[in-house]
Amino acid sequence: MIHKCLFPAAGYGTRFLPATKAMPKEMLPIVNKPLIQYGVEEALEAGCHTMAIVTGRGKRSIEDHFDTSYELEHQIKGTDKESYLKEIRSLIQTCTFSYTRQNEMKGLGHAILTGETLIGQEAFAVILADDLCANMGGKGVLSQMVGLYKKYCCSIVAIEEVDMSDVDKYGIIEGEEIEKGVYKISNMTEKPSREEAKSNLAVIGRYILTPDIFNILRVTKPGKKGEIQITDALLEQAKAGRVLAYKFEGKRYDCGNINGFVRATNDFYEAYHR
Ligand code: UTP
Repeated sequence: MIHKCLFPAAGYGTRFLPATKAMPKEMLPIVNKPLIQYGVEEALEAGCHTMAIVTGRGKRSIEDHFDTSYELEHQIKGTDKESYLKEIRSLIQTCTFSYTRQNEMKGLGHAILTGETLIGQEAFAVILADDLCANMGGKGVLSQMVGLYKKYCCSIVAIEEVDMSDVDKYGIIEGEEIEKGVYKISNMTEKPSREEAKSNLAVIGRYILTPDIFNILRVTKPGKKGEIQITDALLEQAKAGRVLAYKFEGKRYDCGNINGFVRATNDFYEAYHR
């Protein structure tokens, strides 16, 4: 039902400098796998086979990662190291990867609009790869959201409760709980102050969007920091009662900052590599 997943990956990753000076944030590894590969695996598990990636300058290594490296294949053929490439080979064979470039960093909303040529007129998923989501042993977060989309057929954002001291880092929603963990959004505010925030329900980097979002984004005026915010476009859909927020099962790691990255590294090492 949701066939395509968009990965906005054009940001500069300034919170992770100098590591991100010449290397995309999305290629930072958690143990031995880059963040964006975890995202692609989550999308595939949710039924998406087309990965649409919005890149920018200095992001070529993302394209190389999702392509066959003939020299490497030749080099390790028949050795015990071949098994290290098993997962990525299988992704390359199973999925289609397409790319477009965001020429100016005008915000997440603008990055999503840039991806329109790769998506077309169908509902699609969005994964921000630096938000690493894990539901160890259970259904992935995007898969849970696709299940909800089948029931409601409208835009859905993933949310989690954050400390009130952190609300100014997120889009914060208000809404009525219509079933356990599912809210019909009545209002959304991008990075409100603690005093302004009406809740501590924060939007994280997983979305399902209906394609009318593109027409809304086209006329969305730049908001905070001069960026086109996806929150503002979603608010337009929410006014028509067409956006749900979903409190997902699992854990999210903000790998765009050092604390989240280290926590994810430790947890994934414990869970999969010890
Ligand atoms: P972030 O603000 O977390 O990413 O944007 P950033 O700008 O790369 O990081 P910092 O704040 O400088 O450390 C959330 C997501 O939206 C993408 C980013 O790549 C990231 O995945 N994004 C953001 C774009 O693709 N284009 C933009 O213009 C802005």
